[in-house]
Amino acid sequence: MSSTAPNLIAAVSEARQWDRLMELAKLGAITGADGEPGVNRACLTPLDREARRLVISWAEGLGLTVSVDEIGNLFLRHEGTEAGAAPVLTGSHMDTQPNGGRFDGIWGVIAGLEAVQAIREAGIATRRPIEVVAWTNEEGGRFAPGCMGSMAYAHYKPANAWDAVADAEGITFGQALAEHRAAEAGLTHRPLGGKPFAYVEAHIEQGPRLEAEGADIGVVTGIQGSRWFIVELRGETAHAGTAPVSLRKDAVQDMIRAITALNALMTDPTDVLRFTVGQIEVLPNTSNTVADRVRFTIDFRHPDKDVLLANGDAIEPTIRSAVKNCEVTVTERFHALPVEFDALVTDAVEDAATAQGLSSLRIPSGAFHDAQFMVPLCPSGMIFVPCRNGVSHNPAEYSTPGQLAAGARVLAAVLTDLANR
Ligand code: GLV
Ligand code: MN
Ligand code: MN
Repeated sequence: MSSTAPNLIAAVSEARQWDRLMELAKLGAITGADGEPGVNRACLTPLDREARRLVISWAEGLGLTVSVDEIGNLFLRHEGTEAGAAPVLTGSHMDTQPNGGRFDGIWGVIAGLEAVQAIREAGIATRRPIEVVAWTNEEGGRFAPGCMGSMAYAHYKPANAWDAVADAEGITFGQALAEHRAAEAGLTHRPLGGKPFAYVEAHIEQGPRLEAEGADIGVVTGIQGSRWFIVELRGETAHAGTAPVSLRKDAVQDMIRAITALNALMTDPTDVLRFTVGQIEVLPNTSNTVADRVRFTIDFRHPDKDVLLANGDAIEPTIRSAVKNCEVTVTERFHALPVEFDALVTDAVEDAATAQGLSSLRIPSGAFHDAQFMVPLCPSGMIFVPCRNGVSHNPAEYSTPGQLAAGARVLAAVLTDLANR
């Protein structure tokens, strides 16, 4: 049970945290359809590096030690009093969706920095070190899938597993990472991986529940499973005016058959299952030519491992039996099983919220997060704060300075608690 030092709570600055978020939101600023201020800052780009330099300058100003690993994960370390004690790790990611908001990911990094700054300014010594991490490529927007940095840290995959993944311009992850590492060659290097004592990630909820239920803090109980696939259909081009329909190998028509069959497979009267086709490429993409190629993505999620495995494994056979004329290739590119967070962290979050007079709600996460890959390494958990209308991956994404400050205060208390165990 935590009893938070009042000076720690007072040392968390709502204005400083908000100002930092707004400074960072200038890097990659975009305007949404209704004029909302969003951000497009893809990973391993010059903008990403500019944002990192800003965060590094704040961390160095605080006296934190900065280091990077071979996949570009960035660590900002506050020392503990006990030499060799395993650190408490906190953080999130700094990359955004192409049409993203100002808070998804970056708030978890800035909240970690704010919490550490408050701990230092309050003169609180912690037994364990606290490290703030910014994971590389959580979003998977430029290079799919997401969570590459945390997967590599957790040795779930080797760091070079995605070297050949190309972005929309044909630049590979391997090339972008090499360029990025050269640009950050002046930073101290650390080995990939580690064995933290615990991991805590602060994030906006990205869903509507906390706001609807009037809760200040989400005590995140776990994360549902996700599987990502790419489907490629290969037919034959033909003249739209002359080729008889019966002789065509029309990739668009086969895509419609495939998605219709998948919609039937994924029908869930309880509305728990999430099935999304979010990206479709058609070639040659002209109105008077029958398309010979279609490539579409599948994002499938479920909290129940058995459903995730059974329905996910049924995707390829369902597509194969639905298409009539095209050759089919189905490639799975992300496979994250559902996880449950550890009571060490969930209880610490709930206790800290209660001790600060904040209302809290235990909720699972529908979005995936780097925390998913920390679960096998150490007791892990997350802190959510409400976001307006539950909107995220959208420039309209918004949490108030006060909601974010409440989250940072809970994070500061949780980090202090865990770092003294
Ligand atoms: C993370 O951005 C997700 O898609 O859940
Ligand atoms: Mn995120
Ligand atoms: Mn996101």
